[in-house]
Amino acid sequence: MNVEKIMVIGAGQMGSGIAQVCATAGYKVILNDLKQEFVERGFAVIQQNLSRQVSKERMTSEEMEAILGNITASTDLNDAGQVDLVIEAAVENMKVKTDLFKQLDEIAPAHAILASNTSSLPITEIAAATNRPEKVIGMHFMNPVPVMKLVEIIRGLATVDEVYKTIEEITIRLGKVPVEVNDFPGFVSNRILMPMINEAIYTLYEGVATKEAIDEVMKLGMNHPMGPLTLADFIGLDTCLYIMETLHEGFGDDKYRPCPLLRKYVSAGWLGKKSGRGFYIYE
Ligand code: CAA
Ligand code: NAD
Repeated sequence: MNVEKIMVIGAGQMGSGIAQVCATAGYKVILNDLKQEFVERGFAVIQQNLSRQVSKERMTSEEMEAILGNITASTDLNDAGQVDLVIEAAVENMKVKTDLFKQLDEIAPAHAILASNTSSLPITEIAAATNRPEKVIGMHFMNPVPVMKLVEIIRGLATVDEVYKTIEEITIRLGKVPVEVNDFPGFVSNRILMPMINEAIYTLYEGVATKEAIDEVMKLGMNHPMGPLTLADFIGLDTCLYIMETLHEGFGDDKYRPCPLLRKYVSAGWLGKKSGRGFYIYE
């Protein structure tokens, strides 16, 4: 299956990173979000990342301009009418995703693959909102996208081999390493990572140690590049809560119960680095 044009939906932390790596690999990218200012914010992040590469002499300014020239801004979902692949990276909410996939199914050409960067939601259920479940797949990038090598590729119940192979080839062209996983809540990455983060939040909630101490233990004691509370802020506390809710609902076990402190922070709008405050304060 030949893919040349990609639409990335959501120009947030993940969508901007996905657009950057796709454009760098030579794909034509349409970066879509609800408002022009959100697309512009995502585009500015890409520009900043590429400028750093130029200043480190890993890329010429001509190459940077060519990459930026591969990206077009969009606030109209109808632009999906011209693409071969959609990678959806909107918020981690089933209703938002199924609404989007329903519309995309009507707009995108019949051959187009519809992929979701969901962290935890069932691909099979997202696929069921369309009339092309065989062309729906999970393409789960890690944050920060330009740096992290892994892409979990999740087959829904109906996903066909040809679609899986196409997404695997694209992942490799992006310079990433594909790992195939089946469709279970949280897949592999967040089934293992998020309960650890949730436990770190309980540890803080129960007063076992300060946030700095908890992070220090995991950084120095386990050689993690970031402590779990710093990582939660980096991922986004809203996303962490959505993922824990998916695990809790999907497995029904109390061990996945989201920590009340996580809920409280999200209710307060303390969403982590992206909102300026989470467990830590960001200037
Ligand atoms: N965007 C682009 N590039 C970035 C970046 C960003 N947000 N943050 C850091 N970088 C680049 C830096 O420019 C630097 O590049 P060069 O070495 O080429 O100059 C490189 O990454 C290293 O950065 P730093 O030296 O500033 O900092 P660091 O060594 O601490 O690394 C890190 C930063 C890579 C983010 C590291 O702290 C890390 O690996 N943290 C853990 C990340 C992680 O666990 N991600 C997975 C989250 S879970 C997920 O994504 C799945 C989900 O569904 C929730
Ligand atoms: P984010 O909050 O930074 O960005 C989400 C963007 O989606 C926002 O700009 C928002 O305006 C936009 N959006 C919302 N509804 C939309 C719609 N209907 N149409 C177009 N745009 C819409 O979130 P993020 O961290 O980039 O996460 C995006 C997705 O990627 C989520 O599904 C999340 O679970 C997943 N993910 C996140 C991480 C992470 O570490 N943050 C890692 C892997 C996967």
